[in-house]
Amino acid sequence: MQDSNIGFIGGGHMTSSLISGLLSSGFPAKQLFVYDRNPEKTEHLQSKFGVEGSPDLKKVVKMAQVLVLAVKPNDMKNLVESLGGEIAQQKPLIISIAAGISTTLLEQWLGEHHAIIRAMPNTPALLRVGATGLYANSKTLESQKELAESILRAVGVTVWVNHEHDIDTITATSGSGPAYFFLVMEALQKGAEQLGLPKATAKILTLQTALGAARMAMESDIPLETLIQRVASPGGTTEKALSVLESGGIQEIFKKALEAAKDRSREISENFKES
Ligand SMILES: NC(=O)c1ccc[n+]([C@@H]2O[C@H](COP(=O)([O-])OP(=O)(O)OC[C@H]3O[C@@H](n4cnc5c(N)ncnc54)[C@H](OP(=O)(O)O)[C@@H]3O)[C@@H](O)[C@H]2O)c1
Repeated sequence: MQDSNIGFIGGGHMTSSLISGLLSSGFPAKQLFVYDRNPEKTEHLQSKFGVEGSPDLKKVVKMAQVLVLAVKPNDMKNLVESLGGEIAQQKPLIISIAAGISTTLLEQWLGEHHAIIRAMPNTPALLRVGATGLYANSKTLESQKELAESILRAVGVTVWVNHEHDIDTITATSGSGPAYFFLVMEALQKGAEQLGLPKATAKILTLQTALGAARMAMESDIPLETLIQRVASPGGTTEKALSVLESGGIQEIFKKALEAAKDRSREISENFKES
């Protein structure tokens, strides 16, 4: 991986998370190139991380063996159409992280069949505990898949899917997922505050409990159901709390939330097909 230059187009939250993770894993800053249409964002990333910021989009494309397209879905069509010529000439591996933009659409905008990987990372990539779903189109070589995987593995775990539509489910699960856990943590912290704990106490207890629960689940083969049962002794306090959550329909609410996010991801894709 370290033989390749990586160019990032779009210097926002995800690019910042990915760069930070790559640098922490030992990737050389001088092989990371960034272009954002706002020069101050490019300069900010350059001074924060010591990467190569450039005010010239085409230069970044020229330098990169791997091009990470990290702009919002709405900005992708203009970007890709404007870069078609350079990409056809340089033939970098393209990794798109935009939600809802299919490889077919990207090829249509590029005007040619090209090696494209769709990646759906999430923001914990910043701390190298991200989760990324990956899909490669038929033009992508095995060596390019390995390269993309090694880049995304530097910032957390990776999983491949064989069907592109599964990326919509991954978007709903782990792409948006950090926000669901932040919401649960916020609800737990606020609940504890309302029952009288000082804010700082409620916060540290909530966050450490979330971290401890995640580590217990990650570091053992014990199914989640069993881990739940082990905390919830019959007739005890946890059982009471869980019965309130269950009767409020927590499982159903999560199912509906995931369906809504997945449908939105598909809808974004459909809207672009029509435009
Ligand atoms: N945030 C997440 O948790 C997450 C998770 C997984 C995937 N994603 C995907 O990652 C992508 C980026 O998300 P983000 O949260 O990093 O967005 P962001 O913070 O808004 O960053 C995107 C940056 O790209 C710039 N930009 C737009 N068009 C450009 C162009 N043609 N050339 C150069 N720069 C351009 C934007 O400038 P302006 O500010 O002027 O628009 C902005 O600075 C999105 O497609 C999103 O679907 C995000």
